[in-house]
Amino acid sequence: MKKRVLYSAGLAAMLALCLVAAPRPLSDVMKEVGPTCGSLKKNLDAGSADMALKDAQQLQKLFKETRQFWAKRKTADAAGFASTGEAALKDIVKATKGGDTTAAKASFETLLGTCKSCHGAHREKGPDGKWKIKGA
Ligand code: HEC
Repeated sequence: MKKRVLYSAGLAAMLALCLVAAPRPLSDVMKEVGPTCGSLKKNLDAGSADMALKDAQQLQKLFKETRQFWAKRKTADAAGFASTGEAALKDIVKATKGGDTTAAKASFETLLGTCKSCHGAHREKGPDGKWKIKGA
């Protein structure tokens, strides 16, 4: 009886681990990247450094997730675009922490370049009109 309880507890723990470790589908990540990036642009244009900082920190998490997603798929160029984005975000975080939205805007252009490069190489519209990973 005791053994069975232990066994179930073990299974439950393993299942929980799998759920935590499983990467989200990329589309879920991108659906957050889109609006957060829009908000970052708006806040940089308005000179709201504090709010822009929050957006940039959120994007750092999402870009890390994006990089890990592609690293797992062994797609080096895509992982590279994501890591270029992470470097740009690091600069944006630094600049906005210092209240300098002008410097942050220059790095924001670099960030946008990574969206374009990766979408050009790895994104296409499916027959249902929705975005998907090219060739997937
Ligand atoms: C490393 C690759 C990569 C980078 C960098 C990247 N994307 Fe994407 N993005 C994709 C791929 C692939 C898709 C299609 C996947 C899907 O939606 O299933 C996508 C889809 C999207 C979608 C559509 C989501 C949906 O399904 O409705 C939006 C919006 C988006 N990206 C915004 C951005 C923005 C904004 C940036 C830059 C700040 C960015 N992405 C950077 C690869 C990337």
